[in-house]
Amino acid sequence: DLPARVRIHEVGPRDGLQNEKRTVPVEVKADFIRRLAEAGLTTVEATSFVHPKWVPQLADAEELFPLVADLPVELPVLVPNERGLDRALALGARRIAVFASATESFAKANLNRTVDEALGMFDPVVRRAKDRKARVRGYVSMCFGDPWEGAVPIHQVVRVCKALMDMGCDELSLGDTIGVATPGHVLELLSELNEEGVPTSALGVHFHDTYGQALANTLAALQHGVTTVDASAGGLGGCPYAKSATGNLATEDLVWMLHGLGIDTGVDLDRLVATSVWMAAHLDRPSPSRTVRALSHK
Ligand code: HMG
Ligand code: MG
Repeated sequence: DLPARVRIHEVGPRDGLQNEKRTVPVEVKADFIRRLAEAGLTTVEATSFVHPKWVPQLADAEELFPLVADLPVELPVLVPNERGLDRALALGARRIAVFASATESFAKANLNRTVDEALGMFDPVVRRAKDRKARVRGYVSMCFGDPWEGAVPIHQVVRVCKALMDMGCDELSLGDTIGVATPGHVLELLSELNEEGVPTSALGVHFHDTYGQALANTLAALQHGVTTVDASAGGLGGCPYAKSATGNLATEDLVWMLHGLGIDTGVDLDRLVATSVWMAAHLDRPSPSRTVRALSHK
């Protein structure tokens, strides 16, 4: 059985742009977010309150957030630590995401911490965010494969997921950071999480499309009952601290499949495609999304 409606968690302005070498002007970022909201996306991950030296593209978070804060959509932001939380709360952010890793190599590369040190860093962040009535998402990266460690054992992923749930996260996002997952592996992880007491209703999926598996993986997750899917407009993206990561699942490709299946998203696909074509012009590079290409060359 497939769900009647899917909530798309749009990550283009954050995951999509964080890897861009050339700085995108803050007004363009704000326009991007506004256009995504106008295209019907209801959750648009806006930026990250991380160390500006680690992700220079998002160093303008303080400038950007107030430009979009009154849009009638959810605007989650990434925060790695209490310093990041302070910055986000000072601007009135209502949705926070911490980002853990299932592997030691990526925890070190992305957060300069061991897996457990990173969890320790998130603990007060989640607690304080919940005290302020913010909703908290917990990302788990490298849920399937890791560029340094290869295949990632499921028990390692489950341990981190449970720790984040115990901390008080409202939802998790299972990250295939480098896009190596295949549908059977996805189903195995989802089932194992259920068996360990993490309900499907708390789970979102976050696929990168490196090996062209993102849609197949998404369909498997939907058949399992997942209703929250992360995607990036135009297929932008990659992670600066995971060398083999390409763009996320393109939101347009996802919407094409969901609408074809009769699943409601609230997204106006033509407006979304127009937004990605507009953004591609700013980035000076065509969108890698097959759907964007097909619909913009009609
Ligand atoms: P560190 O170097 O260990 O930092 O980095 P520290 O805790 O030792 O602090 C050093 C200095 O940085 C201090 O300043 C802090 O105040 C400052 P000093 O006292 O020396 O003057 N600092 C900050 N400044 C501003 N904002 C902050 C902040 N924190 C500390 N938040 C740290 C540790 C976590 C900060 C760093 O590793 C970092 O910022 N990492 C972020 C990396 C990142 O954003 N990666 C991409 C997102 S994850 C992803 O893309 C995967 C995902 O899409 C899912 C998937 O696909 O798998 C989510
Ligand atoms: Mg990602």
